Amino acid sequence: MKTQMQSITTIVTNAGQLITMHLPGHLGPRRGGEMAELGIIKNGAIALAGGRIVAIDQTTKLLKKIKPAKNTKIIDANGKLVTPGLVDPHCHPVFGGNRANEFEMRLAGKDYLEIATAGGGIKSTVKATRKASPQQLYENGKKAVDKMLAGGTTTIEGKSGYGLNTLSEVKILKALEQIGKDSPATIVQTFLGAHEIPEEYANRPDDYVALVCGEMIPTVASQGLAEFCDIFCEKGVFSPKQTRVVLQTAQAFGLKLKIHADQLHSTGGAELAAEFGAVSADHLDCVAHEGIHLMKKAGVIAVLLPGSVLVLDLKKRAPARQMIEYGLPVAIGTDFNPGSSPIQSMPLTMSLACVMFKMTPAESLCAATINAAYAIDRGDKYGSLAPGKMGDLVIWDAEDYREIPYWVGHNLVSTVIKSGKQVTL
Ligand code: NIG
Ligand code: FE
Repeated sequence: MKTQMQSITTIVTNAGQLITMHLPGHLGPRRGGEMAELGIIKNGAIALAGGRIVAIDQTTKLLKKIKPAKNTKIIDANGKLVTPGLVDPHCHPVFGGNRANEFEMRLAGKDYLEIATAGGGIKSTVKATRKASPQQLYENGKKAVDKMLAGGTTTIEGKSGYGLNTLSEVKILKALEQIGKDSPATIVQTFLGAHEIPEEYANRPDDYVALVCGEMIPTVASQGLAEFCDIFCEKGVFSPKQTRVVLQTAQAFGLKLKIHADQLHSTGGAELAAEFGAVSADHLDCVAHEGIHLMKKAGVIAVLLPGSVLVLDLKKRAPARQMIEYGLPVAIGTDFNPGSSPIQSMPLTMSLACVMFKMTPAESLCAATINAAYAIDRGDKYGSLAPGKMGDLVIWDAEDYREIPYWVGHNLVSTVIKSGKQVTL
């Protein structure tokens, strides 16, 4: 037998269930029934070289084809569950301070927009973030990313949005960039200057939109600090008309688009995402049927964020079942942020997607891997296990994939492998 060209750095053997999330011949995010197809190999093995996957098969078959070299590391999964590294397609990990006080206020009956109007909410995190040094922001964000990685998340989308002036937005994106360099995790950067109208522009929101478009987007794009532009299109925040202006500008500067859409009210965010060919529309708890229809037609991925629905105790929830049955690809994310979702765990997010959004465990895993990867335009590299894709995988202290959402709030991670390297014990 011919020996392989590349020297094999690592082989993971004896995965009781090796969840590949690979559908031969299938490209693009999964829709409908495809979301439940996990591509399970029983007693599977996977060989890695140069950070990528070179072979994947049943253990006995793989070991016949692939001969380990002297320095190949063999990791015996010993019957445990192995999945692709999880992908978190929506979070806000770099900020100053926290909002535990608002958590208590909400429990006492104040709602999210009331608190925001009274100067709390995003604006209070903006104050703390503007004050924070680059080093402090780096440390806060790095801590969050380390926790996410330890919980099985190997690729993370991170947004700015707590600076709301050029200097501070750049400060956040640079902190994020440095975290991406220092952490094994992959970080995909999104500019969210249009997250809220800062206090100093309270009476002239259009002037703030002009600043976002005239100064922030050009600066961020020219410094290569973001790949995506996002906006909070919501009653009392950015109107559909203002959203259109920001999206047009971002597109002109070559940024890909995302929208915080129809979270608290049906504001037409989903429809705008479709009109602009956004990669994803996120939240969607109040989306109208027309929005779902137009998103499907335009190929926009729905990123659902059950953590924020839980923490804000919202009554309206994204119609996940309807979306899946209609054929809209669904992904899930933590929405990690200090206000609506102080949640860093994708496994917990899978539990919430199952219990609150009635997704099946298989669908929740698809939504947290391959569909999440497509939601940040990384479906070609991450989110499934197949030759040529990156060697990002998790060995779990579990035998069956359903245990990930079932053991609510546990960290079942045994080993995380990122780009072919073991990053946890
Ligand atoms: O995705 N909705 C807007 N942005 C965040 C919340 C940010 C905050 O409250 O600090 C979200 O839920
Ligand atoms: Fe968000």
